[in-house]
Amino acid sequence: MNTTSVKAFGTEAKDKDLQLMQIERREVTPTDIEIDILYCGVCHSDLHTARNDWGGTKYPSVPGHEIIGRITKVGSAVTKFKVGDLAGVGCLVDSCRECESCKQNLEQYCLNGSTGTYNGKDPFLGGHTFGGYSEKVVVDEAFGLHIPENLDLKAVAPLLCAGVTTWSPLKHWDVKEGSKVAVVGLGGLGHMAIKLAKGLGANVTLFSRSPDKIQDALDLGADAVVISTYENEMKAVKGKFDLIIDTVPYDHDINPYISTLNISGTLVLVGYIGKMEDALFTPPMIGGRRSVAGSVIGGIKETQEMLDFCGEKNILPEIEMINMQNINEAYERMLKSDVRYRFVIDMQSLKN
Ligand SMILES: NC(=O)c1ccc[n+]([C@@H]2O[C@H](COP(=O)([O-])OP(=O)(O)OC[C@H]3O[C@@H](n4cnc5c(N)ncnc54)[C@H](OP(=O)(O)O)[C@@H]3O)[C@@H](O)[C@H]2O)c1
Ligand SMILES: [Zn+2]
Ligand SMILES: [Zn+2]
Repeated sequence: MNTTSVKAFGTEAKDKDLQLMQIERREVTPTDIEIDILYCGVCHSDLHTARNDWGGTKYPSVPGHEIIGRITKVGSAVTKFKVGDLAGVGCLVDSCRECESCKQNLEQYCLNGSTGTYNGKDPFLGGHTFGGYSEKVVVDEAFGLHIPENLDLKAVAPLLCAGVTTWSPLKHWDVKEGSKVAVVGLGGLGHMAIKLAKGLGANVTLFSRSPDKIQDALDLGADAVVISTYENEMKAVKGKFDLIIDTVPYDHDINPYISTLNISGTLVLVGYIGKMEDALFTPPMIGGRRSVAGSVIGGIKETQEMLDFCGEKNILPEIEMINMQNINEAYERMLKSDVRYRFVIDMQSLKN
């Protein structure tokens, strides 16, 4: 298969900085689109992958799954897009399309394993997939997203992961006008969860460790902020929430949050992947039919619905633009929760 060499930013090992490298992109197949990448958001999962926090990272690793760009080529059978269109790519570039999950537009739960935008198995070139910290990406049109024309392009990028990852549980647990939703952690995912839940008409509370984020949370639309280390504030919200979306990336005790769920309420974990050290205390679960659940990103149809919803309501993340060359510094800031609230890379900086 013919390929083109493009510039990218990635890392050769878990303890190395990201740096300039060349990667290959396949020539478009009949159903592919080729996208010239304009902007790419920086997700905490990019950092987890680059540093092999979850194990299983294949190197060299080129992260990036919040991709926005313009189409430069289309394959002969493409119908959804034409050259010159804007397009987005999120966390998935393929799935089996035949299993029960895929048939229900739940490609993220593909029973045969969906293909991640990075660190996935590349069925075309062999090896693994490379993400959006690169000049171009080639993807099957079925996994391309349409971008609402009215939205500021730079800020759309984070919707493709942070947006849909919080949208999917909000929709699955039927959040609507008057629902009581709480969000744990005010970072990339957390701030989108607040905006999207407010957009759906919910009453929203933020749980944060950071008193210096209170005003920001209120400005983002939160109705209340609870500092999770203040016991009196935690007690005051006991039994209150229908749904809690927990975005914290590292191991933490979720028991204090479970008690703040309403009868039949659910705490859905979207952040930490791994074993939790604090055992679950079951009485609040059994005594109130409370659930602890998990959720991963969203399907393509659902991602398009979220983008269209954001287009209608003009919902966008708060972003800080960076150049590709500043990515290592951005990762260090992300580790200190010093992002207000999503970094977006101006990919022009890679091309210069
Ligand atoms: N399930 C999925 O499909 C999916 C998709 C995307 C990302 N993720 C994962 O979701 C997590 C969040 O991603 P993100 O991009 O939103 O990260 P982020 O921007 O770094 O935000 C995480 C927030 O969690 C809080 N936090 C950080 N470290 C903490 C700790 N040790 N204990 C308690 N709270 C802590 C902080 O908020 P406060 O300062 O307010 O406490 C921080 O701003 C990551 O692990 C990422 O890999 C999952
Ligand atoms: Zn992500
Ligand atoms: Zn499937």
